[in-house]
Order: sequence, then C-alpha cells, then structure tokens
Amino acid sequence: MPYTVPKLPDFSTAALDSAVRDLLSAIQEEKDVLVNKASEPSVASSTKTADLKVFRDRWLARKNGIVTQITELWLKLAPPDAKGEVGRRVNAVKAEVERYVGETQERVELFARQSTAALESLGRLDSNLQTLKTSELERARLDITLPGIRRPIGVEHPVIKTMNEIVGVFRNLGYSVEEGPEIETDYYNFEALNFPPNHPARDTQDTLFIAAQESKPLRDRLLLRTHTSPVQIRTMQKMKPPVRVVCPGKVHRNDAPDATHSPIFHQVEGLAVDTNITFCDLKGTLDHAMKALFGSSVKTRFYPSFFPFTEPSADVQISCIFCDGKGVRDGAPCRNCKASGWIELLGCGMVDPNVYGFVDYDPAKVSGFAFGMGVERIAILKYGVDDIQLFFQGDVRFLEQFG
Ligand code: DAH
Repeated sequence: MPYTVPKLPDFSTAALDSAVRDLLSAIQEEKDVLVNKASEPSVASSTKTADLKVFRDRWLARKNGIVTQITELWLKLAPPDAKGEVGRRVNAVKAEVERYVGETQERVELFARQSTAALESLGRLDSNLQTLKTSELERARLDITLPGIRRPIGVEHPVIKTMNEIVGVFRNLGYSVEEGPEIETDYYNFEALNFPPNHPARDTQDTLFIAAQESKPLRDRLLLRTHTSPVQIRTMQKMKPPVRVVCPGKVHRNDAPDATHSPIFHQVEGLAVDTNITFCDLKGTLDHAMKALFGSSVKTRFYPSFFPFTEPSADVQISCIFCDGKGVRDGAPCRNCKASGWIELLGCGMVDPNVYGFVDYDPAKVSGFAFGMGVERIAILKYGVDDIQLFFQGDVRFLEQFG
C-alpha cells in the first residue's frame, strides 16, 4: 500500500514522533525502489526520468504533494498551544523530504545519463558486429568456377637424389651404409689413412682447420673433413671383416668457388674388406656401378694414380657419355672429354696394408678395396649441368627441373 498522510490522533510529542517516523520510512522505501529501478540498464532513461518526476511531484508538488498535505492535516488542524511545536516538526520533515528528493534526483539522473551512454555504445557495437558479419559472409562466399590453388610439392635436391642413387646401386650389391662426423680429427682425416705429418700428399687437399688448437697434439686437432675416407677407419675400428660399406656425406675444402669447384661438396666412399679380395673385384664392382649410373653402354678404364691409403691406386675413367667415347661430336672435337673419349670420375685402389695397422686388422689375412667419388661431379655429368654453383644457389627454377 502506498503511503498516505494520516490525520494525527492527537498532537502529543509521541503521536508526532510516530507519524514522522512512518513518513520518513515511507520516503526512504520509495527512494530505494526508484534508485534500484534506475540502476537497471534495461530500463530506458526516459522511463527513469518520468518516474523521477512522479516521485518528486508526489512528495513536493505545491498542490496536494505530501508535504503540502502535512501542512494541511497536521499544522493547520493543530490547537493553538501545539502549533509552535507542530510547525517546527513539519518544517523539519519538509527539509528531510527535500533532502531525500534531491538525493534521489541526483542518483536517478546519473543512471539515466549512464544508460544513455551505454545504450549508445552498445548500439555502435551492434552495428559494427553486423558489418563484420556481412564482410565475413562476403569472404566465405564460394565461387566454384575459380581454378583451384595448386600447392607445389617439393622435389629432392639433385645432389641428394644422385647421392641416394649411388648408395642404392651399392645397397643392391649388399653394402650397408655408414656415416661419420663432418668435423674430424687430423688422425682420422689424415694420419690413420697413411698421410704422415708433413707428408706432401696432405697438400692435395686444401684443408679448413678449426682455429686455436696449437696446444693440442697434431692428431687431436679438429678440421672439416676433406673427404669421406675417415669413415673407412671409423668403420674398421668398430667392425671385423667382412666389411662392405658405403659412406655418403658432406666434405669441405679451402677451394675458391668456380664452375667446377665448391668449398662444400659431397662424396660417397666405399670399402670392401674380406679374405681374398682382389683388384678384379674392384674393377668388376666399379664397372657395374658406372653402368648402373650412366647406362649399360658405358665402358670403364683404370688409370694408375696415387693415394696414400691405397696401393696400388687408380683413377677410374668412363667412356665419354657425350660423344660415346669417340672424342668427336657433331664433326667437332668433344668439349666434355677434351676429345679424349674418356672422363675421369673417381679414385680407388686396394687398401694399403699400412692402414690395417691403424685398425688392428691383419694384412696377412685380409685384403680389400676402397673407392671415393664426388657426388656433384656425377650429377653434373648425369644431368648436363655446366656450373657446380647452381647446386648451392637455391634457385628454384633450376631445382624444380629435377622433380
Ligand atoms: N678420398 C679421395 C679424395 O677425396 C678419394 C678416394 C680415392 C677415396 C681413392 C678412396 C680411394 O677410398 O681408394 O680425393
């Protein structure tokens, strides 16, 4: 029940006290309800302002507001001797009511302003969301008449492809694969391969040494391996004969790059050690391998050479694949074999008995052969590439031709 102003039963202090208490608790309650409602963001600010006006008029309207009513019902009806006291109480109540109304107005107006601002920014958010949704839809629209996006599939690098091919030829002959570190010691790269310290054969492999190792004994000094031959030693240290391995990998030399040289390149090493292995086995194996790599019409020729770790040693030449070994092509001297009809391709030989001394093999009981070939050199010949640097420049137009 909304509050209505009662008539006073009498004009005693007790009656006045109780009537004033009821009135003030009524305005407090109405104020609370109003402020609560105003704090709701879902209530329109116009409603909040309208409610405030109703509240204000109900209590303070000159015509028939509650304050006016108490003047009429309490003060005017008071007997002359009580008028003074009643007048003071009515004035105090009036001031209290004004204070309540003032406070209520302040709070409600604040909420009304806030909700307007909140509503505005909500509105902006909402329209942004709509725009986003539209552009998202626009983007997701599927045009099935557009050509598809082709995803390029990578291809094996020609050097790796050739290296795998070489390894594959030997795996088919029963060889297994061994690998060794690219940073080697002087011992594995040279000494155990029968290159004694200061031997001039070391000069044929321009070596990149790791700096500041002078304090170490020569054999422990680190270098970038100049060939894959050290893997021969590592293999013989860990296995007893029979041994048949190929060792593919990266090697480094202090060579200036040009069309035929690169400071980093790849080799495949081979080693076979068993009882009764002869030079015939070496010749037959490499002749087969060259035919497998370059075609069955290719011929091989073994040319005397020198390597410290093989004795005897040979360079293997294949009949020129550009002029079929004739030395002449289209009536002109063949440039690929310098008109000789032969192309030098790899080194090989029978393992030097001194090498067995480094790995605890008995040279009286075992014999074997070794060979080493440059992968880039073989790739250049197989694919007719005229500059080794193309392999390392990373130009996809070159590389994708090998897919
Ligand atoms: N390591 C030699 C080089 O890089 C190639 C080589 C020659 C390896 C004869 C061998 C071999 O195993 O028997 O020049």
